[in-house]
Amino acid sequence: MIAPDALVLGIETSCDETAVAVVRGGREVLSNVIASQARLHSPFGGVVPEIAARAHEELMPQTIDQALQEAGVRIGDIDAVAATRGPGLVGALLVGFSAGKAIASSRGLPFAGVHHLEGHVMAAVLEFGDLEPPYVALIVSGGHTSLLAVREPGLYAPMGATLDDAAGEAFDKIARFLGLGFPGGPEIDRLSEQGDPAAIAFPRAMSGQGLDFSFSGLKTAVVRYVNRMEKEGVEISLPDVAASFQEAIVDVQIEKSLLACEMEGVNTLVVGGGVAANSRLRRRLEEEASARGIRLLVPGRRLCVDNGAMIAAAGHARLVAGESTPLDLSADPSLPLPAPSPA
Ligand code: KG4
Ligand code: ZN
Repeated sequence: MIAPDALVLGIETSCDETAVAVVRGGREVLSNVIASQARLHSPFGGVVPEIAARAHEELMPQTIDQALQEAGVRIGDIDAVAATRGPGLVGALLVGFSAGKAIASSRGLPFAGVHHLEGHVMAAVLEFGDLEPPYVALIVSGGHTSLLAVREPGLYAPMGATLDDAAGEAFDKIARFLGLGFPGGPEIDRLSEQGDPAAIAFPRAMSGQGLDFSFSGLKTAVVRYVNRMEKEGVEISLPDVAASFQEAIVDVQIEKSLLACEMEGVNTLVVGGGVAANSRLRRRLEEEASARGIRLLVPGRRLCVDNGAMIAAAGHARLVAGESTPLDLSADPSLPLPAPSPA
């Protein structure tokens, strides 16, 4: 158990951001350093696991130093440590999880191994304060597209998930196909500003069919469209393709999130994960949620992408509740999210 106002060091290395933060009381972000490796992976058009693990190892000591320095604290001031335990890339996870355990062990501090998705959900606490269940959470990232029902703190009932690619993965793959940079989400987001979202009617996959998602058909439709236009010698508008593709993803995410709220009978929707940084998704969610009287909690962009502050917030909640993670546990690349037991 830790004091409610404890100073927590949060470490995140599940994918390609080496991220460390210092958070007071699970709420006040004193620093939130994100050392992106995008430059290293960009030539490959995707994250290369071995490169990610090596880069985490190289970047970890300086990222911890920078987080402490920016927070204006010393390592001796830290009261507890939280680190992402899973899911994610095994080599990448090991670096941050081991670093967290090493600090906790050498300084005799409480330690929390955090589920990455719980981190994305708890990012909302950093911006909006305590999250009182019940609520629905939509987590959309490079690795996940999940709708979760939260009926009590710390337990996540899965309502829907992707059957194939994650939403962010679809953004990255289509960006790569269109010859844009990596990561693709921000590139498509930017390019779409100059495009017409209604220019091309790409499929809204699994619309009207429950809460699961699928993005492979949409991906194929974009590739087919571009290839057909090229074959016919018709010049395509890249901004129109990007905006229309983005709109198809946004439409489905909004439809299913609102349906999930309706099915759960809740009026609070938490949204997180890298794709929640998308301008169009944010704007449309605001419009649609307010039209339906739903309280929308989407944190700022820096708290949506992978970061250490969300891990510190999630770890703080668990440690304050009296839970902690034994130091002999290892990182787990397929760590399950704590779910309520079946009724
Ligand atoms: O949560 P995150 O940082 O890492 C994972 O847990 O996967 O999400 C990364 C994903 C990438 O696929 C990236 O392309 C996407 O989030 N992303 C975006 C935007 N910013 C990041 N997708 C759409 N629009 C954005 N502005
Ligand atoms: Zn993430």
